[in-house]
Amino acid sequence: MAAGVAGVGLSWPSKLARSPNSILPPLSPSSRSSRRRVVKMALSVDERKKNFTLQKSEEAFNAAKELMPGGVNSPVRAFKSVGGQPIVFDSVKGSHMWDIDGNEYIDYVGSWGPAIIGHADDEVLAALAETMKKGTSFGAPCLLENVLAEMVISAVPSIEMVRFVNSGTEACMGVLRLARAFTGREKIIKFEGCYHGHADPFLVKAGSGVATLGLPDSPGVPKGATYETLTSPYNDISTVKNLFDTNKGEIAAVILEPVVGNSGFIPPKPGFLEDLRRITKENDTLLIFDEVMTGFRLSYGGAQEYFGITPDLTTLGKIIGGGLPVGAYGGRRDIMEMVAPAGPMYQAGTLSGNPLAMTAGIHTLKRLKQPGSYQYLDKITSELVQGIIDAGKRAGHAICGGSINGMFGFFFTEGPVYEFADAKKSDTAKFAKFFRGMLEEGVYFAPSQFEAGFTSLAHTSEDIQQTIEAAEKVLRQL
Ligand SMILES: Cc1ncc(COP(=O)(O)O)c(C=O)c1O
Repeated sequence: MAAGVAGVGLSWPSKLARSPNSILPPLSPSSRSSRRRVVKMALSVDERKKNFTLQKSEEAFNAAKELMPGGVNSPVRAFKSVGGQPIVFDSVKGSHMWDIDGNEYIDYVGSWGPAIIGHADDEVLAALAETMKKGTSFGAPCLLENVLAEMVISAVPSIEMVRFVNSGTEACMGVLRLARAFTGREKIIKFEGCYHGHADPFLVKAGSGVATLGLPDSPGVPKGATYETLTSPYNDISTVKNLFDTNKGEIAAVILEPVVGNSGFIPPKPGFLEDLRRITKENDTLLIFDEVMTGFRLSYGGAQEYFGITPDLTTLGKIIGGGLPVGAYGGRRDIMEMVAPAGPMYQAGTLSGNPLAMTAGIHTLKRLKQPGSYQYLDKITSELVQGIIDAGKRAGHAICGGSINGMFGFFFTEGPVYEFADAKKSDTAKFAKFFRGMLEEGVYFAPSQFEAGFTSLAHTSEDIQQTIEAAEKVLRQL
């Protein structure tokens, strides 16, 4: 069965059976009551619109700017590319967020990915409270590490052994050192617009905040750190072949987001991942899927399960921490056994594998594993994206986009979008107006044209309909 991507005209064989009348995944009693409560809260949205003000947010952010660079602890949060001041939040629950002025929003950022079962899930919170009674960090082995490791290994096809760290950035730093240690080579290929965290070797033609802020590279990154980083446009297999021809026997790894989320949502062309797998095998080069974003989001086994392509190594983050700070890298046992203390490649972490983060991850994955989860995500996300694209076209805008299960995106350009250069043709000024209009309607999208969006099991059909209606209204006014 083919899973289509609206607007970009691509399709792939889906590894997952899609039922036309997907049902909500079965809920436990506590999450059922949590979902009811969220729906009830959502009824107050119209009331909220009448009183929409961001005064407290503005005051808090002005104070923050004196305390922290740009007022934030991660650049994209600062709304630089969409104008205006960022919103300061007070609480989150399910698919909704509340700011410090009391405004309510339907959220499609999901804390940038982790919140796939909904924010502040009752079962996750209860499990965290139980774990916390025993302490917050041991700095020594704990049983919960075995449980999450076992879950990750049995879910993700490429992972036979795993190392937990504290962020996606750390996972990518670790995996790169490992790939270099294993192959004894130094060069890597990365793709334009893909983001692998903020470590020096990856800050070359990177996506996410680097793309959003229009920064070519970052000052402070020594030339030597990026000297061995070769780049290619995404979806461009002939450039990859040329790089292999001109750097014979020197390339340690090819690393990529198997579906790009950090320059907006860009899926691979049919055959692209297969070609990368074949070329890397032919050249004794390791293939690394950075699944920090796509892991457990495109399917329970990530993009590699969805597309049926098994890399040598994989990085994870976001969802496996259930909203607490976690990253991981894993892969073939023979490669992973190079990691210290099993082997000589050094990598360590004071808080790595801490019991709270392991607990949130375990309970998030347990929920995701229930039958129907990804069918439900597919149903609501494709409805959402198609609804927005149709509304955009009716209002006369150039717009394209798509989705795979819980990940989506749309661009204000005719398309097709196969690589970052295509994404950059988007009308970013129009996106900024759309974004701000949607905020006033109570919908929180990522504050950049170059970021993917995320849905969760807590998003209801009402959320989706309300979002499409708001988009229809805002798009007509642009
Ligand atoms: C694909 C990918 N890799 C790595 C990272 C870095 O993860 P973190 O922000 O947890 O350091 C991100 C963050 O968004 C990401 O999307």
